[in-house]
Amino acid sequence: MTPIQSYIKEHKQQFLNELTELLKIPSVSADSAFKKDVLNTADFVLDSLKKAGCDKVELCETPGYPIIYGEKIIDKNLPTVLVYGHYDVQPADPIDLWTSPPFEPVIKKTEIHPEGAIFARGACDDKGQMYMHVKALEYMTSTGNLPCNVKFMIEGEEEVGSESLAWFVPRNKEKLANDVILISDTGMIANDIPSITTGLRGLSYVEVEVTGPNRDLHSGLYGGAVANPINILTKMIASLHDENNHITIPGFYDNVEELSTEERAEMAKAPFSLEKYKDALKIDDVYGEKGYSTNERNSIRPTLDVNGIWGGYTGEGAKTVIASKAFAKISMRLVPHQDWKEITELFKNHFESIAPKSVKVVVTPHHGGQGYVTPTNNIAYKAASKAYENTFGKTPIPQRSGGSIPIVALFEQELKSKTILMGFGLNSDAIHSPNEHFGIWNYLKGIETIPYFYKYFTELHKAS
Ligand code: BES
Ligand code: MN
Ligand code: MN
Repeated sequence: MTPIQSYIKEHKQQFLNELTELLKIPSVSADSAFKKDVLNTADFVLDSLKKAGCDKVELCETPGYPIIYGEKIIDKNLPTVLVYGHYDVQPADPIDLWTSPPFEPVIKKTEIHPEGAIFARGACDDKGQMYMHVKALEYMTSTGNLPCNVKFMIEGEEEVGSESLAWFVPRNKEKLANDVILISDTGMIANDIPSITTGLRGLSYVEVEVTGPNRDLHSGLYGGAVANPINILTKMIASLHDENNHITIPGFYDNVEELSTEERAEMAKAPFSLEKYKDALKIDDVYGEKGYSTNERNSIRPTLDVNGIWGGYTGEGAKTVIASKAFAKISMRLVPHQDWKEITELFKNHFESIAPKSVKVVVTPHHGGQGYVTPTNNIAYKAASKAYENTFGKTPIPQRSGGSIPIVALFEQELKSKTILMGFGLNSDAIHSPNEHFGIWNYLKGIETIPYFYKYFTELHKAS
């Protein structure tokens, strides 16, 4: 057993108890009813960084939720790792689909996590993964194994678009100066197939409103003679994809990065079972853009999805009505070189242009962000890869993810540093869904792997 393994074994119960306390606080950033809880979570994180050995911790006020900053600078000549994570979580609803309450963490065994997983909103995204870094720091400071400087920046608005962080970063460039940014807020292929996330998709999120007549109408008296905004909206949405599931917005694909045949062949080497994929979701077939594999569709290709749609009567029984308005929330996942503001503009122009005269359309942009691709030929990636080799006994596979952490592109722009995405979650951990969980094995493996990253990064940095 290595020293870190014995440390983890000795402190396992404490690590689980602390994460349980953190998960009990419902830090839902999207819902202002949880404001106090979000603020309490910020205090919890501040306190935990102090205990983990930071010399300086600060609660940094912003126009929104505070950012928790912590640092331990041991030598100005050594490299600095900046850890980013988020303490806010997604809303827990639909609550009735949870098998145990979302903010009362419990450990349950699953097929994929036979040693148990902790079930709670935020267990994997991102409290559990963020807290691995706090515990890894605690190990390094308390045993004299911290090889370089470290800074922490933990925000409370990731799940709602990181607006306050986008305000904070450009104003604090010096404070945040670093040699590499380290984030655990993604996943890996499987516990026996470690992977490092090398790409994130960008995002453009919009809301549309279609208005027909000035009031709700009797569908018998007016039906057939005026535009029904729900009929129109669904027709407009349906027209956004063609028969090959290509997106029809003019110019949408103009800047999409096309991967070479070699790059696609390399990607296809990653272990993947379509049968298992379908079985996990209980679907008879997959669905998507013609000419691309499932893994390509959900990583290197852009998408357009309706995330919510409403209007008219949805209560009990029947009501014969033509609603005055219909609404939808639509998100587009973007790939490298697609600019999210440009895409938002293209969507808006196109959506307004396809509306018949009989309705009015308003497109309101929400948040968005650029995609990101991490290089694999730098010392940061090499250090991460070596760290996994040490603790998993296997070389991790580089893999692009379909998810988004829009702030990562901004880090590069403002702080001029690259990000390494060491995620320890699994797709089956149900992030954003009912029954979110995080494997105990994954939690502890993360704590074990992180200190090796610091070690190898510092060594490679000195040698370079
Ligand atoms: N941690 C996720 C993103 C993620 C998860 C990336 C798994 C890769 C693998 C993050 O908290 C998240 O949910 N991001 C949002 C975007 C944000 C602007 C709301 C997303 O991807 O929908
Ligand atoms: Mn996250
Ligand atoms: Mn999330």
